[in-house]
Amino acid sequence: MSVLETYQLSVNTFDSKEVASKKAAARIAELIQDRDSKGENTILGLATGSSPLGVYAELIRLHKEEGLSFQNVITFNLDEYLPMDANSAHSYVYFMQENLFKHIDIKPENIHIPDGTLSQEQVDSFCQEYEQKIAAVGGIDIQLLGIGRTGHIGFNEPPSSLDSLTRQVILHEITRIDAAPGFGGIEHVPSSAITMGVGTIMKAKEVIMLAWGESKAAIVKEMIQGEISEQVPATFLQYHANTQVYLDKTAASAL
Ligand code: GLP
Repeated sequence: MSVLETYQLSVNTFDSKEVASKKAAARIAELIQDRDSKGENTILGLATGSSPLGVYAELIRLHKEEGLSFQNVITFNLDEYLPMDANSAHSYVYFMQENLFKHIDIKPENIHIPDGTLSQEQVDSFCQEYEQKIAAVGGIDIQLLGIGRTGHIGFNEPPSSLDSLTRQVILHEITRIDAAPGFGGIEHVPSSAITMGVGTIMKAKEVIMLAWGESKAAIVKEMIQGEISEQVPATFLQYHANTQVYLDKTAASAL
């Protein structure tokens, strides 16, 4: 069995999530402009949840005020609830439209989000095609991530293996409790989702992990300093050679 190399995650702690989000957006903009200057596309892996909202707000500002173009950007979102109507305000399709896509000049055909409307029979082939589509454009350049209290990345709940790929998963009770306020009660939170796998995320050339607030402090410590384990899927990032962790002071308080 080969022994995988581990890395000390690169931690960047900022006074506030606003400052941190601007830094993360600046890194994304820098890559897009560099690729644009070479006539190349930029492939972004995108996340939902509250953590990336400030990054999206800053990318929108850079587009509107500083002319950052997304014409050559191709995106793949991490996950979507299953079942989920794309028109529902709870869908990640809706979230991405409202919080980013409708405000920028990305081409609709360059947007990819797992499909929450699939029947059970369609899920496996959809997931395989999602992997193939990522590979066909040369893989993800920058993957944005948040972290759930279970240590999930995307919806890779514990236990998720290092080589897991895009697939259907059952959501953890804690994840459903955390999502419940937005759905008006846990009984309305879907029990399942489609998510990129840990292995899919690990193939990204660069990962930017965002975590804000006191409630993330314990799991952030575990991700960075804990033993690598399927029980805390975010610890697998310790095997990733180029992960930047962006924290505000409170999320970094247990380190
Ligand atoms: C959801 C998403 C994850 C996200 C997590 C944390 O479970 N599927 O991708 O990272 O929530 O959410 P938040 O950023 O709101 O804390």
